[in-house]
This record gives sequence, structure tokens and C-alpha cells, in this order.
Amino acid sequence: MEKRRFGASGLDVPAVGMGTWRTFDVRGKAAEANARAVVDQALAAGANLVDSSPMYGEAERVLGRALQGGRDAAIVATKVWTPSADEGRAQVERALGLFGGHVELYQIHNLVNWRQHLAMLERSKAAGQVKVIGATHYREDALGELAEVMRTGRIGAIQVPYNPVQREVERLVLPHAAELGLGVVIMRPFAEGALFRRMPSPDELEPLKPFGVTTWSQALLKWSLSDPRCHVAIPATSRPARMLENAQAGNPPWFSEEERAYVARLATKT
Ligand SMILES: NC(=O)c1ccc[n+]([C@@H]2O[C@H](COP(=O)([O-])OP(=O)(O)OC[C@H]3O[C@@H](n4cnc5c(N)ncnc54)[C@H](OP(=O)(O)O)[C@@H]3O)[C@@H](O)[C@H]2O)c1
Repeated sequence: MEKRRFGASGLDVPAVGMGTWRTFDVRGKAAEANARAVVDQALAAGANLVDSSPMYGEAERVLGRALQGGRDAAIVATKVWTPSADEGRAQVERALGLFGGHVELYQIHNLVNWRQHLAMLERSKAAGQVKVIGATHYREDALGELAEVMRTGRIGAIQVPYNPVQREVERLVLPHAAELGLGVVIMRPFAEGALFRRMPSPDELEPLKPFGVTTWSQALLKWSLSDPRCHVAIPATSRPARMLENAQAGNPPWFSEEERAYVARLATKT
């Protein structure tokens, strides 16, 4: 797996990591064992940046358990998500308990109460519990506010949606991120799975073979990761075999504008 310098943060991240929204919001022995199998596969394949949030129900807890024995090999990205400053502090305490006392990337989820949480996370960073502070949003109408937070100079990373049918960040966010030296995490690389509704045929994927791409998921991941302003994509899956398939997209050669345009055409074909 290719490792990439995460903006100016000093952290090195894999090109492909893993998300946990919905897929890790599970309870019970069998479902949690399955989550562990997904994490084991991610770590074995070098896709070792794992993203969660208190917004994702059981996901932080399930992820923390699945990382037992493997925590040192992982880069944990999680979030604070609450309007309350007190509850924000409690969320961070809980997460530090789940992730061995430190979190590599702590993000302010959907910019909720970002001013207070930012100051709190700066204190956690000064105490050595957090390495990089980030901010996330998924809605186009919030990207202006995200840009405002970026311009404070107080965050080192952002997390935004980016895929061939959701490209607003190209104009509104990625140019600033590159200028400011911010790490960029790509959420929703498959548009929450919507991009699998029409699967291109093997013949349509054939021209992408020289890029190591044999499946549609790999084509989509390579599409976003070939933008040099982006660092790590975090597809979510509940299936270990798909985790491996996704991780295999994290190596060069990267697409030129020509292949990116081709994949975008396939993604929007009806
Ligand atoms: N505001 C925020 O901060 C925010 C918002 C949204 C998401 N996120 C983060 O970004 C992560 C990714 O986004 P997402 O979960 O919304 O959507 P996504 O990664 O774009 O898509 C996930 C869907 O794709 C399917 N999938 C995964 N790999 C596949 C493959 N190789 N072949 C076919 N299907 C595949 C999964 O189903 P199976 O389980 O059946 O494989 C799942 O339904 C989240 O988990 C979360 O960590 C953050």
C-alpha cells in the first residue's frame, strides 16, 4: 500500500483506509467477530487508517475492540459530535479509553460547535493525546464554513465527500487544502454505495487493467486517489474480501486526466 505524507501534519497515511459508518454499528458476538475480520484484513493489507465517530452508534466501541492487539499498527481517526462542550469532553475521554489513550486524527464532525471543540482538542493535542486535529462535513452548503475553519490555521486535516458524482470540493475546498498543506481524507468514495447500482462490464473496465484495476470499486477509489490534493480514501465495507479488494486500489500507477474522465463517464452512464 502506498503511504502518503498527510499534508504538513507529519503523519504518513495509507492511500486506502476504512470507514465504519453503518458497517460497524453492530451488536452481538457474530457481528462483532465479522467486524474484527474486516479490521484484520484492513491491517494485513496496509489499509491501516480507520475512521469512526460517536455518531455511528456502536462503531467506536466495536472498532476499539477489533483493534485489541493491533492498536499500534493502526492510525485511528475519530470525531467529536455534539453541541455540548461537556459532552464533547466526555466523548473524547471515552474514545481515549477505547483507543489506548491516544487518537492520531481527531475531527470535528459536521462542524458541530466547532469553536468550543477546537479549543478542547487543542488542549488534548498539547497533552500528547491527539496528533492532528481535523474537521469534516458532507454537505455542499457547509463547505463555505469548512473553508472558514481551514483558514483559522488551527486544523491539520479535513474530511470531505469526493467521487465522480459528487465533485463540489474540487472548486470549493481542495485548492485551499493544497495551499494550506492540509491532509485530505475522502469519505463516501462510492457515494454510500449508490455508484454500485450500475456496474460497468468487464469490457468497459478493460482499459484500466494497466493501472492494476480489475473491479469497479478499484476504479472509483483510484479516480479520487489520483487527485494529488487527496491523501486517503476511507471506503466502508462489512465484508473482509471487499476490504482486500478496496485496499488493492492503493498503489500506483495513478490515473491521468484521461482515465479519470473515462471513469467519470462510466459512473454517469445510464
Ligand atoms: N460527515 C462525515 O464526517 C461523514 C459522512 C459520511 C461518511 N463518513 C465516513 O466515510 C466512510 C465512507 O462513507 P460511506 O460509508 O458513507 O460510503 P461508501 O464508503 O461510499 O460506501 C459504502 C458502501 O459500499 C459498499 N461497498 C464497499 N466496498 C465495496 C466493494 N468492493 N464492492 C461493492 N460494494 C462495496 C458497502 O457495502 P458492503 O458493506 O455490503 O460491502 C457499503 O454499502 C464512512 O463509513 C465514515 O467513516 C463521514
